[in-house]
Amino acid sequence: MKTTPLEYNKTMREKFPKNFFWGTATAAYQIEGAVLEDGKGTSIWDTFAHTKNKIHNADTGDFACDHYHRFKDDVRLMQALNTNAYRFSAAWSRIQPNGKGKPNPKGIAFYDQLLDALLEAGIAPFMTLYHWDLPQALEETRDSESRGGWANRDTALRFAEYAHLMAQHFGSRVEGIITLNEPLVFTMLGHVTGQHAPGHTDLSLAFRVAHHALLAHGLAVQGIREACKTPVGIALSMSYVEPVTDSSEDVFAANALDALMNRLFADPIYKGHYPPELEAFLPALPENFTDDLPTIAQPLDFLGVNYYFRYLVQTPKANSTAEGVAALLQFAGMPVEIIPEAARGNPTTGFGWEVYPKGLYQQLEKVHLDYAPKHIFITENGAAYPDEMRDGAVHDPERRRYLELHLEQCALLIEQGIPLEGYFCWSLLDNFEWAEGYSQRFGLYHVDFATQQRTLKSSGAWYRDFIVGL
Ligand code: FCB
Repeated sequence: MKTTPLEYNKTMREKFPKNFFWGTATAAYQIEGAVLEDGKGTSIWDTFAHTKNKIHNADTGDFACDHYHRFKDDVRLMQALNTNAYRFSAAWSRIQPNGKGKPNPKGIAFYDQLLDALLEAGIAPFMTLYHWDLPQALEETRDSESRGGWANRDTALRFAEYAHLMAQHFGSRVEGIITLNEPLVFTMLGHVTGQHAPGHTDLSLAFRVAHHALLAHGLAVQGIREACKTPVGIALSMSYVEPVTDSSEDVFAANALDALMNRLFADPIYKGHYPPELEAFLPALPENFTDDLPTIAQPLDFLGVNYYFRYLVQTPKANSTAEGVAALLQFAGMPVEIIPEAARGNPTTGFGWEVYPKGLYQQLEKVHLDYAPKHIFITENGAAYPDEMRDGAVHDPERRRYLELHLEQCALLIEQGIPLEGYFCWSLLDNFEWAEGYSQRFGLYHVDFATQQRTLKSSGAWYRDFIVGL
């Protein structure tokens, strides 16, 4: 007999353990607003969003979801969703307006109050220390070669100090600390393609930036461990990379892209060395980089994986001019062609990303085999669709389906004994989606940015019911 969707959900729901973390995720610059309030310093995203022609519709995060003033209501929205966990990021420039020195008491007070509200609501806080909003002053702090920001080694040391002070102050009240969010994305989009802050377009910066981000992570883990006993991890973007055929050329291309997109950060952290496929890039790393490898490879308590889509690749068929990440690989003699999402025959989201839930299973199985993290969380997963309010409601069956299909893969992973212990849907609210501004809506709650009114979407209602097994 064919099972109805409802029965099917119930069976799947039962596979999740009782103590599973059911959450939502956000990031400071995407929701807080209040960018100049209470002593906050400027971040590279404040600067970038105010630079002409960088952001869709010239949107900025100046007001975003006004979460800075509405966080108490937003915690109630989390409660109404039945979530028992929440992943958010702290804005470094609220805490240390110039990226170093004494903490700003009002910045500390904001996150204190947020934590109070979460704990009172029975929601376990997972705090990300860095979700891309580097204090502008550090971008302007140059090394002897006149490189600033993440290209300057000093930034890693400053981050470690910041992490230590955050752990001292907040460590005992959070469930987990995530050092960096998606270092690959701020390395590549921020320094190679220029689509994200700080907007550099310099292939030669990529590996120096990546190395300093890794060093920042390793030093931060040490600092956090000195200050508290809270579990520590990192959130890495991961996309399963699949070759179109099993020809050795296509498999070679897939391995090369996998090394860059999935292992550039995970290999040094879990194995203490860079992926062998990326050997051609070693000269682009800072001198004596090997001395830092033991610091980078600090044991972690958990790995956070942000999964949205897969890459389907082949060896290039014609002499194509590659851009961005593909140009990097071409430069190293590892040409890769990514098959356009629209040509793969699967549905795509509003962002044009392929809906490919199986890739979540495949990638996490691979992570488990390659690195065996003690605990794994999906720290982000979700989809953008062009939602519309009709008669006061948002009906978004595609997002509901997206979530259901990905949670089904989570259930299968758990069944296989893979230690997946939490799922954080991106995102609680529609928010400032970086270069896309407010044009891409990922929320379980719709936000009317003119009035700041929040409305639960039908996908959010589904998630709410699914969490409690309805
Ligand atoms: C991830 C980011 C997150 C959000 C989602 C859609 O790469 O970490 O801030 O923008 O994509």
